[in-house]
Amino acid sequence: MNRPPEDILLEINGLRTYFFTEEGVVKAIESIDLVVYKSETLGLVGESGSGKSVTALSILGIVPDPPGKILQGEVIFHGQDLRKLSDSDMRKIRGNQIAMIFQDPMTSLNPVFTVGDQISEAIMLHQKVTKKEAREKSIKIMSLVGIPSADERVDNYPFEFSGGMRQRVMIAMALSCNPELLIADEPSTSLDVTIQAQILELLKATSEEFDMSIILITHDMGVIAEMCDRVAVMYAGYICESGDIMIIFKSPYHPYTRGLLGAIPRPDAEREDLTIIRGAIPNLINPPSACRFHPRCDYWMEGLCESVLPEVLEIESGHKVRCHIYSDAGKAWMQKHGEAREIGKIPKSAVGK
Ligand SMILES: Nc1ncnc2c1ncn2[C@@H]1O[C@H](COP(=O)(O)OP(=O)(O)OP(=O)(O)O)[C@@H](O)[C@H]1O
Ligand SMILES: [Mg+2]
Repeated sequence: MNRPPEDILLEINGLRTYFFTEEGVVKAIESIDLVVYKSETLGLVGESGSGKSVTALSILGIVPDPPGKILQGEVIFHGQDLRKLSDSDMRKIRGNQIAMIFQDPMTSLNPVFTVGDQISEAIMLHQKVTKKEAREKSIKIMSLVGIPSADERVDNYPFEFSGGMRQRVMIAMALSCNPELLIADEPSTSLDVTIQAQILELLKATSEEFDMSIILITHDMGVIAEMCDRVAVMYAGYICESGDIMIIFKSPYHPYTRGLLGAIPRPDAEREDLTIIRGAIPNLINPPSACRFHPRCDYWMEGLCESVLPEVLEIESGHKVRCHIYSDAGKAWMQKHGEAREIGKIPKSAVGK
């Protein structure tokens, strides 16, 4: 369901981010539209290389330049376009109103400073507090994220923490300024399964406590099902489908989403029952034309999908899909050529209307 416009916290329109490398131009984000509502957890899911992290970096305005450049689009937060802000205004928002947990905690923690110093520094950057107050706040937030004996651990260095505890330190740092939006990029994938579950549980609890929105980036549909209110499925620089979690899991419309869901191993499924998406994500220097998924798609309508980019269609309130199976051009193609391969597997409500 669409929520009213005043519930929107972040809105991305027509975002495009490329990397200008020696090998060529990597068209990482071609065109992204996305909305994040207040207090919701939005999952951003897709295979490795689909552009999830680059989307996050683009929101925060920290795409490495060179070689990266945001070429167009708006990132509207509280009604203002973050792309139009000066560097110093953007720094005030980053880490304060919008915080990020990076994919690899070791690269984001400085090995030569204690974790207490690093969390305190983040706090002092944005709040008028003394060093002593910042330290006390750091201890408080470290215990809040489940680090035992926080008053002692505050003086330890990152290498003295286990992977799971380090990830908690990262979360403590991100939460230290009560952000309104937390972008968590694969916050748990490097951890073992039990710790993974604890970290996700912690994120869920803190988002409720702080009334915070989360963009949760993962390639794991199982994590999405556990954690999210809505999901946006990304493929090679586009969002191909988005909507409420229940709707997407119950009736996914895009062949790529269907493939991702089929790829969740289930204890009750025979191995051969699993749908595997054949092929691999393309090189984005020279991506497939129009719908970038067409070479891997079981429903490819030749002459159409590789030559005309499908528009985003809102199938029902809040459920959007970018695929010709549902477009007028696609329906005309099917009438002319017979149904797209295996079309019977697509929900009947969506075709032949
Ligand atoms: N600094 C860079 N220079 C050149 N290309 C880059 C750079 N950063 C990302 N890319 C390219 O942009 C595309 C999207 O990458 P991104 O890191 O966003 O993928 P992802 O969905 O986060 O994948 P993963 O699940 O592996 O983290 C990839 O083709 C990647 O090679
Ligand atoms: Mg990534």
